[in-house]
Amino acid sequence: MKIQTFDTRPVALTIKKIVRENENTNTYVFDYPLGARSGQFVMLWIPGVDEKPFSVAYDNGTEFWLTICRVGPATKELFKLKEGDKVGVRGPFGTNYEFKKGDKVALVAGGYGAAPMYFCAHEAVKAGAEVDFIVGARSEDLLLFTHKVSGLSDVDLHIATDDGSCGFKGYTTQVLEKLFKKKKFNKVCTCGPEIMEKFVGEIAEKHGVDAEISVEKYMKCGFGVCGQCVIDDSGEPICKKGCVMKYSYLKRMPEFGKYHRDAQGKKHNF
Ligand SMILES: Cc1cc2nc3c(=O)[nH]c(=O)nc-3n(C[C@H](O)[C@H](O)[C@H](O)COP(=O)(O)OP(=O)(O)OC[C@H]3O[C@@H](n4cnc5c(N)ncnc54)[C@H](O)[C@@H]3O)c2cc1C
Ligand code: FES
Repeated sequence: MKIQTFDTRPVALTIKKIVRENENTNTYVFDYPLGARSGQFVMLWIPGVDEKPFSVAYDNGTEFWLTICRVGPATKELFKLKEGDKVGVRGPFGTNYEFKKGDKVALVAGGYGAAPMYFCAHEAVKAGAEVDFIVGARSEDLLLFTHKVSGLSDVDLHIATDDGSCGFKGYTTQVLEKLFKKKKFNKVCTCGPEIMEKFVGEIAEKHGVDAEISVEKYMKCGFGVCGQCVIDDSGEPICKKGCVMKYSYLKRMPEFGKYHRDAQGKKHNF
């Protein structure tokens, strides 16, 4: 999990392609050698609107993807942009996942976390690791990237939906528990809702693995200057110390898995 070098100045990039993943999720493709590793994020400036953090969903050295859900004012405006329109990008920022030959990896993804975990699976396979990819959503229509993941060699895909409309009926964490009964993993990585991430951390710890967790906190600068994303009680900025962090560290933070702070610093319980 080493910190990468980065550029804090935005570059103006043209949206090369927009892929509709589902009703409220698009993947934006850019022709640009971003040089991101899996787990890293960028600050995306939507001209005239705002600048927001998004994880890198793929980077092959010449092209990178961002997979974005329409949730509020900034992402609603982003969804109005078309192929050929311009946005600003700063980054890549933060720590990343690392894999080596022979690693036995469980990746656990929830919601839009499936996209950055796909990038993770890609890098793990390239390094010579074996991967079990667990992805969950409330229902089949909300699942993301399952076709892309099933196209990767050396990756076993496990799907969980809350309503049982696809794969296992239940949670990704239940699938992880079951897999641990059959297999040994030396690495567990996760990206998704913080409550899910906390359970993944606990399960992995029970089986002797210190999970690597992608943590999201409200971000403004993205590189450790403004103090917005500092986690209680460490005083450390998540954008610089993370986003990929070890569960053994996070479990000591009273904030992790319990609440997050908004732009004004006000607490909101999960
Ligand atoms: C490191 C990181 C990686 C992320 N990766 C992705 C991704 O790959 N795909 C994706 O769809 N979303 C991702 N997000 C979340 C994304 O930043 C928010 O959904 C987006 O900022 C919402 O803005 P909005 O104005 O549309 O909605 P709002 O209504 O303003 O917010 C909706 C939700 O997003 C959170 N949010 C809003 N602004 C920020 C901010 N500046 N920093 C962090 N959270 C914020 C709010 O707390 C709220 O929970 C990521 C967040 C972080 C911190
Ligand atoms: S977002 Fe500014 S310190 Fe992390």
